[in-house]
Amino acid sequence: MNKNIFAENILKNKVVFVTGGGTGITGGVARALTEMGAKVSITSRKQENLESMANTIRENGGECFAVAADVRDFAAVENAINKTIEQFGKIDIVVNGAAGNFLCEAKELSSNGFGTVVDIDTKGTFNVCRAAFEELKKNQGQILNISATLHYLGTPMQIHVSAAKAGVDAITRNLAVEWGKYGIRVNGIAPGPIEDTEGMKRLLPEQLKEKLAKKIPLQRFGKINDIENAAVFLCSDAANYINGVTLVVDGGQWLSANTFM
Ligand code: HXC
Repeated sequence: MNKNIFAENILKNKVVFVTGGGTGITGGVARALTEMGAKVSITSRKQENLESMANTIRENGGECFAVAADVRDFAAVENAINKTIEQFGKIDIVVNGAAGNFLCEAKELSSNGFGTVVDIDTKGTFNVCRAAFEELKKNQGQILNISATLHYLGTPMQIHVSAAKAGVDAITRNLAVEWGKYGIRVNGIAPGPIEDTEGMKRLLPEQLKEKLAKKIPLQRFGKINDIENAAVFLCSDAANYINGVTLVVDGGQWLSANTFM
């Protein structure tokens, strides 16, 4: 599907390091980038979660390297980045998609529960950006951070994720300003509710699905492919002058919170 929208091989010769790239949205993004000609290195905590996506990409004719690392552990991130450079010779693009999430009311949430999600999402994003900096500077590379829209308003049972993703958006803007002079572009994508993701399955009760879909201005949930297309665009030369932006891809969902009719 992507191949019919974008010019063939628009990411040819690019090497992309994708965290959380074994499953869900970031797994789809990793696969889509290889369809556009990129080579990808996918990383998450468990090697077994990576193998299935790595095989899918390879069966599809793409090149994929799978290396386990916990993004909370800076040394492990550095190791995964070094192994990727050994494998593919360089890194041009980093996609930060590793994220933790569960539903919990603030009054029930432990300090460690809050900190765990902030550590995965926010510190993990910083760790990867920091560890990849010299390589991205060398290659005039770019960073794509996967965020959310939860923190634009108040979202019940998501204080930890909202705080974590607000931090991710701050990282996107700060690094865009600090690292622009090195030729590094830093952007984000904020997906709305996306069908067929682990997040949606666990976070949205089945009986609320239809009601929520009807409240979305475009009258449907997003698909992983919608995020893949936004990622391909932002990673391509078509976005050469876009820096520091978090692109909302949600069918207008968060804007419609005040629609009571
Ligand atoms: C309350 C919980 C909890 C829960 C964990 N904790 N799950 N608290 N309710 N359901 C608390 C624990 O009690 C503990 O605190 C602390 O968090 C750490 O738990 P651990 O299990 O030791 O941590 P760890 O194994 O490192 O990671 C746990 C995890 C992670 C953060 C829950 O396994 C995870 O998130 N997995 C899901 C990954 C995922 O689905 N990612 C996609 C995200 S989707 P105490 O105090 O007891 O020590 C997304 C999109 C957002 O981000 C937009 C949605 C619309």
